[in-house]
Amino acid sequence: MLVPHITFFFLIMLRSCSSIDTIGVSQNITDGQTIFSKEEKFEMGFFSPGTSKNRYLGIWFKNTSPITVAWVANRDTPLVDSLSTANFDSQGIMSVVNSTGSIIWSTSNYSSAPKTNYINPILQLLDDGNLVIKEGNNVIWQSFDYPTDTMLSGMKLGKNFKTRQEIYLTSWKSADDPSTGDYTARFLMVKGKYQQVYVYKSSDIVTRIGPYNAIAFAGQPNYKANPLYVYEVDMVVNDNEMYFEFMYNSSTFSAKFIVTYEGKFEIWQLTLRTHQWIQDLALPANNCDNYELCGPYGSCSTENFLGCTCLDGFEVVDEQESSDDFSRGCKRSKALDCGPKEGFRLLSSMKLPDTQNASYNGSMNLIECKEACKSNCSCVAYANPNMNPGGLGCLLWFGDLIDIRVYPINGQDLYVRLAASELSDLGSSFRKKKQVVIEVTVSVSAGLTLLCLILAFYIRNKRKRKRKLDTERQRQVRALKVIDKDHNNSNKRANIEVPMFTLSTIMRATDNFSINNQLGEGGFGPVYKGVLEQGQEIAVKRLSKSSRQGLDEFENEVICIAKLQHRNLVKLLGYCIQDDETMLIYEYMPNKSLDWFIFDNSRQSLLNWPQRFHIIHGIARGLLYLHQDSRLRVVHRDLKAGNILLDHNMNPKISDFGLARMFKEHESEANTKKVVGTLGYISPEYAVNGLFSVKSDIFSFGVLILEIVSGKKNRGFVNQDHHNSLLGHAWRLYKEGKSLDLLDASLDESLLVSQVQRCIHVGLLCVQQRAEDRPDTPFVVAMLGGEGSLPSPKQPGFFIQGSELSSSSSSLPTLPSSLNGVTLSQIQAR
Ligand SMILES: *[C@@H]1O[C@H](CO)[C@@H](O)[C@H](O)[C@H]1NC(C)=O
Ligand SMILES: *[C@@H]1O[C@H](CO)[C@@H](O)[C@H](O)[C@H]1NC(C)=O
Ligand SMILES: *[C@@H]1O[C@H](CO)[C@@H](O)[C@H](O)[C@H]1NC(C)=O
Repeated sequence: MLVPHITFFFLIMLRSCSSIDTIGVSQNITDGQTIFSKEEKFEMGFFSPGTSKNRYLGIWFKNTSPITVAWVANRDTPLVDSLSTANFDSQGIMSVVNSTGSIIWSTSNYSSAPKTNYINPILQLLDDGNLVIKEGNNVIWQSFDYPTDTMLSGMKLGKNFKTRQEIYLTSWKSADDPSTGDYTARFLMVKGKYQQVYVYKSSDIVTRIGPYNAIAFAGQPNYKANPLYVYEVDMVVNDNEMYFEFMYNSSTFSAKFIVTYEGKFEIWQLTLRTHQWIQDLALPANNCDNYELCGPYGSCSTENFLGCTCLDGFEVVDEQESSDDFSRGCKRSKALDCGPKEGFRLLSSMKLPDTQNASYNGSMNLIECKEACKSNCSCVAYANPNMNPGGLGCLLWFGDLIDIRVYPINGQDLYVRLAASELSDLGSSFRKKKQVVIEVTVSVSAGLTLLCLILAFYIRNKRKRKRKLDTERQRQVRALKVIDKDHNNSNKRANIEVPMFTLSTIMRATDNFSINNQLGEGGFGPVYKGVLEQGQEIAVKRLSKSSRQGLDEFENEVICIAKLQHRNLVKLLGYCIQDDETMLIYEYMPNKSLDWFIFDNSRQSLLNWPQRFHIIHGIARGLLYLHQDSRLRVVHRDLKAGNILLDHNMNPKISDFGLARMFKEHESEANTKKVVGTLGYISPEYAVNGLFSVKSDIFSFGVLILEIVSGKKNRGFVNQDHHNSLLGHAWRLYKEGKSLDLLDASLDESLLVSQVQRCIHVGLLCVQQRAEDRPDTPFVVAMLGGEGSLPSPKQPGFFIQGSELSSSSSSLPTLPSSLNGVTLSQIQAR
């Protein structure tokens, strides 16, 4: 027991010192006193949560309102009055003693360490929120080993294989009651298994977070993409222990992971300057996050109200099952026989199945992974969980694939084993679905006519597309002739700074240009995803069959593009010319393109303001490089949302230089007979006179800024109240001082109002009618990043919607309005 007068003495000492973080033997903390960590990030003392009158000893984030508790000592043994103390003794034990003198909580109950007398132990609250009892450097006890519902930076959640102790989070019972609740958040801690987090309610899994993809937990939309909040996540596995931790290195924010009393796993960030909490993640967020909702081989999607569907190559077990009850899941349409022709279908943008049924090897690349899966007949799927570019890792699934969903963003590639007949029957399931639709339509509308129409339309479209591809190719060849003059034809191959790939390498990488690997159809032909033997992911742009005389030009293009290297341009990795094939090999961009996000109702909200600004700024820097900093002066000529690709961290990369024109150093403007570009983005002088310069790119960029801010397409924008184009609408709002009304409704508190206004202002300056009124590229970059005052914009070009184009030009060609969003190739200018 303590000697009363000593207590009194130290009490005075504590009170007189405002930021004390340490107490020594025989000192105590009474109710009403607190200690602070050194930089005053955390505070410890007695508190009452919410409306409760109970008292608890705990640690909380300092200066947040309401109080945000990070740790509670006596969570299950509350104190009923304010007459308690926390005492610290020479055995290195802290105890909470109530008003009658009984110990109601003690660190000795939470420690396996043998009782010893220490010479000079201290109790210290550290700036990471860890309460440690130590002697010298020897830690006797720490609160980080006994977390409640909150995980802090530096805390290790996991398992010690020797002591068998597992550290995990346990929820509170309610907002006012910190006692042990129903929910726990635990990592899958089995050696050889891949990391993911489960939230349990008692012993049932409620939701699964992950797997961890080396950047974030899969499907976590904003994770790490916000440059203001960067933290590192570590998964550590060794012979003794297996744990997970996260760390940040910042004096501007703190972060916490928490399992709430409602069973959610949440990530929060605290901005230290404003003491405001911002939520970064809360799962489950919707039905699809409920564990195993769609049964084995079922996949859940929130897009288009799909709900549960079967993976490609699978069908429902029980036809009676509705989309709401899919618990029996799906079965294979065609059984596997482990024959040599069996293969895998790529499913992209997935939440990878539960890794309980998977084995993991961190040193294999995707090719080895495929081989390993192929060679073992019981392997049903494989994937590389590591989303770092070039990152290694292989998951092989044995047994059912469960808890799968499709993500709108940050999803991963999953390769599912299918019977040979399923694979050769290209897109069989797609056709099956389509058949159903057609049959239904026909029976409803007695429509042989309709069927004919559909067929006719289909055939026409196909022909049209073919014709279009041919002209694109010819045009490209023509455009490249210009470039040709700049370069010496001799020694060309040696000039090319990127490797030439053999056709067989590319065929292997793309599974013989398998339809399953097709990412889309670009201006000049299809684009495929591929994986090189080293495991590197690539995008292969297969240019439509070239004529022999195009090869020189093609090589020239490769030379030029290879020289353009900037972090905001898509990187050319190599090329291939062989057997009539010409291909460009680019780095693979997992998050598709900007238009996929900003113009889609369900995905708009995935890009918050800091990310959008990051994208605007990145595009500007990429443009600056093209216009000025590269060895060549390049005008892109087709800058649009569809040509801005996004990497793992949502960094923007300008792509598609097919239309780019290189200028000689002293040239700044050129004239062309053909107007190429995309409606909605081309500048007035280019549309009218075929004049293009860096200023026509600036115009397109201005349109792009306004589109990113508003989430609306310039082309096709209709305002109910007046007939302005998006540009005119933005201008009108600007003049009325209501610029912020332009904002995408899905943007919320992540906004920096002055930054948004600045972007709109710069956007308007970029879309000025006259090229000379538009700022040059360095000025655009400076204005976006700076804070000074900006010149006033005038009325933009293309003020009025539709084909009248501009108020000042009367002699305009009429642009065919059927070409929305399509890159024009054959529009004749005067
Ligand atoms: C944190 O940042 C500082 C300064 O930027 C650096 O010196 C220090 O090494 C960093 N610490 C860690 C753990 O990364
Ligand atoms: C992982 O794969 C590599 C390469 O195939 C192999 O050498 C290694 O033994 C594997 N490790 C484990 C633990 O299976
Ligand atoms: C296939 O893999 C499973 C799980 O790793 C293993 O138990 C089995 O022995 C393997 N079969 C063959 C033929 O390698």
